[in-house]
Amino acid sequence: MYKFPKDFLWGSASAAYQIEGAHDVDGKGVSNWDEFVKIPGKTFKGTTGDVAVDHYHRYKEDIALMAEQGLKTYRFSIAWTRIFPNGKGEINQKGIEFYQNIIDECLKYGIEPMVTIFHWDLPQALVNEYGGFENIQIVDDFVNYATTLFKVFGKSVKYWITLNEQNIFTSLGWLTAQHPPGKFDDQKTFYQVNHHAFLAHAKTVLAYRELGFTGKIGASFAYTPSYALDCNPINAMSKMNYDDLKNYWWLDVYAYGEYPRAAMRYLEKKGVAPMVTEEEKRVLKLAAQEIDFMGVNYYQSCVCEYNPLDGVTPYGVMNTTGKKGSGQVVGIPGVYKNPANQFLKTTDWDWTIDPMGLTFLCKEITSRYRLPIMISENGLGAFDKLEEDNSIHDAYRIEYIKEHLKALAVAIDEGCEVLAYCTWSFTDLLSWLNGYQKRYGFVYVDRNEESGSLDRYKKDSFYWYQEVIATNGESLDK
Ligand code: BG6
Repeated sequence: MYKFPKDFLWGSASAAYQIEGAHDVDGKGVSNWDEFVKIPGKTFKGTTGDVAVDHYHRYKEDIALMAEQGLKTYRFSIAWTRIFPNGKGEINQKGIEFYQNIIDECLKYGIEPMVTIFHWDLPQALVNEYGGFENIQIVDDFVNYATTLFKVFGKSVKYWITLNEQNIFTSLGWLTAQHPPGKFDDQKTFYQVNHHAFLAHAKTVLAYRELGFTGKIGASFAYTPSYALDCNPINAMSKMNYDDLKNYWWLDVYAYGEYPRAAMRYLEKKGVAPMVTEEEKRVLKLAAQEIDFMGVNYYQSCVCEYNPLDGVTPYGVMNTTGKKGSGQVVGIPGVYKNPANQFLKTTDWDWTIDPMGLTFLCKEITSRYRLPIMISENGLGAFDKLEEDNSIHDAYRIEYIKEHLKALAVAIDEGCEVLAYCTWSFTDLLSWLNGYQKRYGFVYVDRNEESGSLDRYKKDSFYWYQEVIATNGESLDK
């Protein structure tokens, strides 16, 4: 019943800052996150990625486990600061060596490496010099960094993701102050930063093609598809406005090279629209014709309801403790708000669990953009318990991934072209704002916020996904 393409890429994903550790080893430079986590109160119990799960020193063990599970692809990110400790200038050969080793180790087992060029850890030197993404200079430095990666790894890596969740790192960085650079409600800068990020993405895509590579390249977007609360036209309209401002603002630029018109008009009226030149419009359009897929990180859907002018703001409390119900409803006054979905359950971190949302978004991307889809992240963050015999019974994670995979199979059956599905994550890792207690992996890592042996233990979900891969999804029928 559940059919996946013959060469479907069953995978799992990670990000450098969340797993590597070794923050000052082998010439690595300082990143914005190395600095940000030092600010009291920014992360859960002050956790940092200084050691993380020590993948830097244990990558062979981790990749051997991936091979044992049967992964077809492993998505990981490269730390810009390992390649260019200061963001540009001289290449750090030790950094190149580390990622070459990861790639070779994957290829040794027949695992397709899928590389994310930027998963949020920006060289602090570029922030100090010109404000990082706030300055258009970032575009040239980004393209120089990406081009270096293409030249060194381009023959062995066939899948490239330019930016991970541009919508999230910019929103949390410039609107809610939860990520670096920790700015609050700086909307004008937020839209300009995004424009620079779009240009960095676009020029990287074009550089990849100019170098003659024929692999696949695109961006990964944190997609939260929406449903109107009901058929009250004002709520249907709030959904439309939400989509324009929160989803199509990014998806349209990647796929069409154009900003949504109504959203642009709204931002112009508010005086916060980005400055865009004719030449930049041309670059965005050219790059849109060259992307090979839409990368999607999917965790949850949302509901849209009209939000009066004196209604909720985007700055409600986010649940970063795992205490169910501690998150607040957010929205934009006069436009929309996102109340809970009464038909769906949530995780302990108040994230709505909605497998059908995955079918929904795949169909939406297919109808709107006609692009192949890469599910670059999907998974359940939960508290796990290591039993006395070192087993971990994470039936809830199996259930979550199973239902999402079934929903993905429905999308494929209904005509969507899906290239890959990567769970988040392979091993447990650092959750940016939630410490080490919010676990996502198939492999348990023995560590908490303070300490741990860093030993690895396979969870029940490890064996379950192993069978899914071995049967190319047929075991989902069971
Ligand atoms: C995505 C990111 O937003 O979701 C990951 O790409 C992140 O880096 C993941 O860890 C889960 O988020 P969280 O907040 O639960 O760790």
